[in-house]
Amino acid sequence: MNEGGAPTGRDALSAAGGEARYPDELRQLVERFLEELDFAAAPAARPLVEAMRYSLLAGGKRIRPVLSLAVAERLGQPPQRVLPFAAALELIHTYSLIHDDLPAIDNDSLRRGVPTCHVRFGEDIAILAGDGLFAEAFRLITDRQEGDARLVVAALSEVAGATGVQGMVGGQYMDVAATASRDDDLRLLHLLKTGRLIEASVAGAALLCGVTGPALEPFRRFAREIGLLFQIVDDILDVDGEADDLGKTAGKDAQLDKTTYVSRFGLDGARRLAGESHARARASLTELGGDVGSLTAVTDYILYRRS
Ligand code: IPE
Ligand code: IPE
Ligand code: MG
Ligand code: MG
Ligand code: MG
Repeated sequence: MNEGGAPTGRDALSAAGGEARYPDELRQLVERFLEELDFAAAPAARPLVEAMRYSLLAGGKRIRPVLSLAVAERLGQPPQRVLPFAAALELIHTYSLIHDDLPAIDNDSLRRGVPTCHVRFGEDIAILAGDGLFAEAFRLITDRQEGDARLVVAALSEVAGATGVQGMVGGQYMDVAATASRDDDLRLLHLLKTGRLIEASVAGAALLCGVTGPALEPFRRFAREIGLLFQIVDDILDVDGEADDLGKTAGKDAQLDKTTYVSRFGLDGARRLAGESHARARASLTELGGDVGSLTAVTDYILYRRS
């Protein structure tokens, strides 16, 4: 129970009638694929690959790739069909975490339950490990993602946009430069920093399954909402979560004086906004229709998770 008395985690999930089960079979597919990735480094560069694999395989919820696979499922396709694309998103996400943890950014020493990449390998190698994961992600898509070439390029474009200035890196800039002075800026910061990559997970997978043009819009509406929800909950967990559950240090946002949903609206306000965002995400799934079981489970998990 949190201090407001509301149930959290699994209790809250069942109280809300939520799907109890994260799609672990999809997560397993991702995990196996990531473990088998061979970056074919020259012997002299193998320690770099060790650092990349250290952060990549340290665990993690795999929410972005699982979302891609769940979208394929919704579209009646075997999830394996989008696996290289899905895995690429996890490489990019891991790169963003390695760089986010660096002393010049959030200066964190714990990630996914183990010392951060720069603590374990040094800052120079951590920077390169992030760069390596980012580039290898694109190589993974171009070399291993099957499908109509135009659709693969469209999915690549989603990823490039989601990681650039109009995406994650732009959002990270707003975060470090503390430029979000109005509520709208904070929403934009969250949508860029976290939302765009989540949107790319959903829209890219839909594109690879042949969904284009206006038919993509309901997928995007859903993805934007869970992207926002994801980061609001991340802000809440920084305040009311435990390092043992989170696998990262709690309380960092306040320590670094970050503008977050909690600093702006208070803990109860942030929880209320998360609840509203979750309800909108659920409504967008109803609009999407079809077999949205796994997408619903991930949506509920994003709100009620403790890690
Ligand atoms: C943490 O992401 C960083 C944010 C974008 C808020 P996750 O909470 O998905 O981290 P992992 O992948 O499970 O470690
Ligand atoms: C980081 O946001 C988001 C990205 C890595 C793009 P946070 O700084 O809030 O993530 P955590 O809390 O360290 O995981
Ligand atoms: Mg950060
Ligand atoms: Mg951080
Ligand atoms: Mg955070």
